[in-house]
Amino acid sequence: MEYLETQDISLPRLGLGTFRMQGDVCRAAVESALGLGYRHIDTAEMYGNEDAIGAAVASSGVARRDLHITTKVWNENLAPDAIRRAFDLSLKKLRLDHVDLYLVHWPAKNMNLPAMFETLIKLKAEGRARAIGVANFNIALLKTVVEQIEAPIACNQVEYHVFLDQTPLRKYLAAKSIPLVAYCPLAQGGAATDKTLMAIGRKHGASAAQVALKWLLDQDGVAAIPKASRADSQKANLGALHVGHDDEDRAAIGALPKNKRLVNPGFAPAWD
Ligand SMILES: NC(=O)c1ccc[n+]([C@@H]2O[C@H](COP(=O)([O-])OP(=O)(O)OC[C@H]3O[C@@H](n4cnc5c(N)ncnc54)[C@H](OP(=O)(O)O)[C@@H]3O)[C@@H](O)[C@H]2O)c1
Repeated sequence: MEYLETQDISLPRLGLGTFRMQGDVCRAAVESALGLGYRHIDTAEMYGNEDAIGAAVASSGVARRDLHITTKVWNENLAPDAIRRAFDLSLKKLRLDHVDLYLVHWPAKNMNLPAMFETLIKLKAEGRARAIGVANFNIALLKTVVEQIEAPIACNQVEYHVFLDQTPLRKYLAAKSIPLVAYCPLAQGGAATDKTLMAIGRKHGASAAQVALKWLLDQDGVAAIPKASRADSQKANLGALHVGHDDEDRAAIGALPKNKRLVNPGFAPAWD
């Protein structure tokens, strides 16, 4: 496994996404992934599956120090006391005494950024969140968090895949040495059937999904969290780190349409 070093944690560059998996299905998928060698699991209070992940982790036999668990506070819970309550509940469901990364899941219109980060930084100081970070923050919000509040954020988790350009955001994050964690790295599965990616895959004995992940993982400071419920997909995705990729492939992927944003809830801030 490859890692990104950020704010005193080692973030495995390939993790397992768990959105839209709950109960026994989620538990089985996480058990399978941990058995295959995944050491980074991505969840959120909003996914309703922290209890299933807690059960899978508890029965896995994997040492806690070898695991990276990310969870997130929902954007209706960003007042300091609400963050505390949400955090305590997440830890309880996960059956853990700390998480490795605690993220603000989405910005909210009425959020008080300094108060939010004061609370998150306290959770970090207490050792209950080894690192803190954000998701779905645009450059303007990041500037406030990084340059004014000077919060020690370990990542920005955003939608990023072969069909979506994130160059300005990626450049800003790179300049601040903050990793970008790519969610929907397979474009919600759409990358797996793309003809261009399939043709590239044929050259290297790889699948289109692996090519899509490799394109992300070839970029400095980028991690990816594909969701896969099936063991064969989980195994293939883990193997993407070792797939071949050349300049011709990069040019072909660069020429794909780059305007397909798949996640854009009504409350989201403008991206540009
Ligand atoms: N911070 C945020 O706001 C945010 C938003 C969205 C997502 N996320 C996180 O990012 C994770 C990933 O995003 P996502 O789940 O929306 O989409 P995704 O990972 O891009 O795609 C998941 C889909 O791809 C399929 N798949 C996985 N591996 C495959 C393979 N090797 N070949 C063919 N198909 C494959 C899965 O099928 P099966 O399910 O059948 O295995 C599933 O339908 C989420 O689970 C979540 O943890 C975060």
